[in-house]
Amino acid sequence: MNLTIRPLKSAEDGRLIEQIGMAAWGSDGLDAIPGHLSQTIAKENGGVILLAFDDERPIGFCWGFWAYVEDKKRWKCASHMAGVIPEYKGKGLGGKIKWAQREHALEKGFDWMTWTYDPLETMNGSLNIRKLGAVSDTYHKNLYGMLDDELNRGIETDRFGVDWWLASNWVQGHADNSRPIPTVESVLADGGLLLNQSSQINNVLTPKDGLPAADFASAPRQLLLQVPRSFQAVKKADLDIGIAWRMHTRELFTAAFKNGYTVIDLIPGDPICHYLFEKNWNPT
Ligand SMILES: CC(C)(COP(=O)(O)OP(=O)(O)OC[C@H]1O[C@@H](n2cnc3c(N)ncnc32)[C@H](O)[C@@H]1OP(=O)(O)O)[C@@H](O)C(=O)NCCC(=O)NCCS
Repeated sequence: MNLTIRPLKSAEDGRLIEQIGMAAWGSDGLDAIPGHLSQTIAKENGGVILLAFDDERPIGFCWGFWAYVEDKKRWKCASHMAGVIPEYKGKGLGGKIKWAQREHALEKGFDWMTWTYDPLETMNGSLNIRKLGAVSDTYHKNLYGMLDDELNRGIETDRFGVDWWLASNWVQGHADNSRPIPTVESVLADGGLLLNQSSQINNVLTPKDGLPAADFASAPRQLLLQVPRSFQAVKKADLDIGIAWRMHTRELFTAAFKNGYTVIDLIPGDPICHYLFEKNWNPT
C-alpha cells in the first residue's frame, strides 16, 4: 500500500468522503455525510477531517470537529466518524488514520477526543480500546434509533461513548506499544471476575448467566465481559440471538458503569472476545 493521509482540501474531497462512507457502512447514501458539510467544517470552521489514499485511490477517512463541553468547561475534538472501504478493513489502516488524527488534534492544542461506537463490533473495539487506548464509561441506549444500513439493520443502536486522552501516558503507551498486555488468564489470576458466560447453540454463540446488577457494588477491581467476535455473523445466523446479545450486554455495561467501572481493554479471541473493566480508573 502506498499510503498518504492528508487533510480535506476541496469540495471534491468532501464528495470522496460521501463515497467512502457509503462503501464502509454499506449504505445507500441517505446516511452519508454531505460533502458541503465536510467542506464547511474543515475549511472554514476548524476540525480534523483527514482522507487516506492508496496512490490516487481514496480508501478511508476520519471526520471530527471542535466542540465546547458546557458542564466540563473544556474543549474537545468530537470525532463523528471513521471508515475504510471494505477491501482495506482489518489491515491496520483505521489505526493509522486515527493516529494521524491524534497528531493533528495535539498540534491544534486539543488533548481530548471523543466518539461513539457499537461495543458489539469487536473490530472497532480492538481498534478503539486495545490499539488506540481510548476508554469508555458511558453507555448510550439506542442512540441513533433504528438505522437501515447493512451493519445496523434490525438492532437498536446502542453505543459506547469513548474518551481518548491524547496527551496521557496511557495513550502514549499504546502508541509506542510499551504498555503491559493483559490476558483473560492474567486478569482472573489477579482476582478479576468474569461477568457472564456464553455457549454455542446450533453453532451460534449465545449469551447466558450475567452478574445481577445488585452484585456489582461488591465486585472486584477488574471485571471481564464476554462478547462474540463476529456480531454480524451472529445476527445473520439468528437475529433474535443478536438482539439477545444487545439486551444482555446493555444490562451488564450499564450496571458496571453505574458502579464506577471503566472499559480499558478488549482482549481479542475467537469466537469470544473479552472487554476488561477497571474500577475507579483515571488517565495518567
Ligand atoms: C472500524 C474501521 C474504521 C476500522 O478500520 P480497520 O482498518 O479495519 O482497523 P485496523 O485494521 O486498524 O484495526 C482493527 C483491529 O481489529 C482486529 N480485528 C479484526 N477483526 C476483529 C474482530 N472480529 N474482533 C476483534 N478484533 C478484530 C484486527 O486484527 C486489527 O488489530 P491488529 O492491527 O492488532 O491486527 C473499519 O473497519 C470500518 O470502516 N468499519 C465500518 C465503519 C465503522 O464502523 N466505523 C466506526 C464507527 S464511526
